[in-house]
Amino acid sequence: MSLVISKLTEDHRNMVLLMSLIGREVDALENGERWDHRLVEFILDYTQHHPDCRHHPLEDEIRDKLKRRAPEAAQAAGDVLAEHAELIDLAHRLDDAVKTVGTKKGPTPEETAAVAREYRERLLAHIDAEETQLFPLALENLSAADWQEIEDKLGSDIDPVFGGGIKEQKYEKLRKAITAWEDEAALVEAGRDEVG
Ligand SMILES: [Fe+2]
Ligand SMILES: [Fe+2]
Repeated sequence: MSLVISKLTEDHRNMVLLMSLIGREVDALENGERWDHRLVEFILDYTQHHPDCRHHPLEDEIRDKLKRRAPEAAQAAGDVLAEHAELIDLAHRLDDAVKTVGTKKGPTPEETAAVAREYRERLLAHIDAEETQLFPLALENLSAADWQEIEDKLGSDIDPVFGGGIKEQKYEKLRKAITAWEDEAALVEAGRDEVG
């Protein structure tokens, strides 16, 4: 598998995890329970800086090259550029909603939860389409030189939350929440094994 595709797929797994964390918090908000709005804000800050600025442009590049190599295949892969623009817009809308929910001019908890659900569902459908259509078609049609060109654009930028390099202090709370969430999931899994 191309290094670029494995990196993009890894990003997808991380995004799915972050969507689960957002889901947990907005469910609590909607149910009138305590919710961690700062955590949701950190997640949205991260997604708007890293995936939106690093991940999506690489996929746009893959789509461009596929269009040149195999226009029919690119057509079948769908319009990822338009979907990226929609996802970026949804992330901004959710960010605004989370920052103003409950204020005089802000949305209700239910409206905020609805935006969060829409963002999550659209992002998951988008990821699924990329992994089942765009990526396989690109792997089939792009040349080694094409992949090298895209790989060169990966650069040395290290993911500030999931990457192994220097981690930005502002995401510390987010990293702790991710670790706790993963520990919890591992415990549930271990419990299932015992029951099974
Ligand atoms: Fe994408
Ligand atoms: Fe993607």
